[in-house]
Amino acid sequence: MSTIFLTGFMGTGKSSVGKVLAERLGYDFVDLDSCIVEKEGCSIREIFSKQGEAYFRKIEREQLLCLLEREFLVVSTGGGIAIDPENRLDMRRCGIVINLVAEPEILLNRLKEETERPLLHGAKSVEMIRKMISEREHGYADADIRIDTSGKNVEDVVREILVYVESRL
Ligand code: S3P
Repeated sequence: MSTIFLTGFMGTGKSSVGKVLAERLGYDFVDLDSCIVEKEGCSIREIFSKQGEAYFRKIEREQLLCLLEREFLVVSTGGGIAIDPENRLDMRRCGIVINLVAEPEILLNRLKEETERPLLHGAKSVEMIRKMISEREHGYADADIRIDTSGKNVEDVVREILVYVESRL
């Protein structure tokens, strides 16, 4: 149970929080999207535009499965990982799943300059973000703990996670 998976919608802070959390725990930090980019040799945007979302999801699952073999990791997952029930089962079985959430208004603010996230399609609005989150809510809720990052800095969030994780390790 020594891997910590951070799930959550784009912009909830999984990578920034994950890096600091890994440092505090003395664990390795892995960004699942970076594993995909490295494996495919092209950007997430290119994968979506050339091979489509289904292909991306297949590679995403494969990369997740590779990480399940390892221990003492903090994994920042992509915002869509929790859509697949198999991914959720594997993460729950092999580690602690921490779901980060934030108010759609705050997410919009964090994501407004974004160009690398194909699912945002350049048409970003609070309504669109709220709709995507509600479609994925069931998957995001499948976590050991959920933490609202709205109005908190990375340190605040890491501190909250550490209190929980230390009670579980
Ligand atoms: C996605 C989120 C992205 C990335 C891809 C798809 C999603 O990761 O995996 O663009 O479906 O929400 P981040 O959540 O790290 O931005």
